[in-house]
Amino acid sequence: MSKKKLVILSGAGISAESGLKTFRDADGLWEGHDVMAVATPEGWQKDQELVLKFYNARRKQLLEVHPNSAHHTIASLETYLDVTIITQNVDDLHERAGSSDVIHIHGELLKVRSIADENTIYSWKKDLHTGDLAPDGKQLRPHVVWFGEAVPLLDLAARKVAQASYVIIVGTSMQVYPAASLIDYAPQDAHCYFVDPSPSISGSARLEVIAEKATVGIPKVAQMLIQNIKK
Ligand code: APR
Repeated sequence: MSKKKLVILSGAGISAESGLKTFRDADGLWEGHDVMAVATPEGWQKDQELVLKFYNARRKQLLEVHPNSAHHTIASLETYLDVTIITQNVDDLHERAGSSDVIHIHGELLKVRSIADENTIYSWKKDLHTGDLAPDGKQLRPHVVWFGEAVPLLDLAARKVAQASYVIIVGTSMQVYPAASLIDYAPQDAHCYFVDPSPSISGSARLEVIAEKATVGIPKVAQMLIQNIKK
């Protein structure tokens, strides 16, 4: 019998317990920066050095942290389910925990691309500087979707959600569109769970809210799913 499909919609909160900060802290800053200065095409035009420095710091930090038990529990669910992760995170902690199908709708911190070609993408683990050029002779930039830019993987992500028997939303404030609208594509009979210590949406007949941190809530949901499958 083929495995049922589970889609995970993850956001910054799943990586918080690994030591990576979420975006919408009380001070409204992202690691001390105004998001508009470091995560928009306008910010890049205005101060490329600042943007490169900011992402260099994020990349260095990412290489120093590790997946937590929520990432690992999700990876282990591949034994029972056909799991696709659709993440807003630019970190690679799901992959490092062993998950095999991860769609990064907001891009990836450890990749870069030419400012003139969004389709040719290169792995990049060191600092990125002004003057680091792609083979087309153009400046390389972080392979990250900035505010105001298109989300090329959105259609693929929506198709995956539309096939899900189970959906787990974890660690996202559900404030950034179009990512937050992906849940609307879930089939009417899909079982949906929302794991977040400060959930931004309330539960319903088809959405069970688990107001816990990811490392507590994800194992609980995993247990429920495994019992449900074995019935
Ligand atoms: N476990 C689970 N969730 C947590 C934890 C935790 N340990 N700690 C915090 N959270 C929750 C918060 O309660 C909040 O709801 O994680 C969520 C983080 O929300 P945001 O900081 O808004 O992150 P996210 O939803 O991923 O942001 C979306 O915004 O800046 C852009 O492109 C960026 O992908 C990002 C997008």
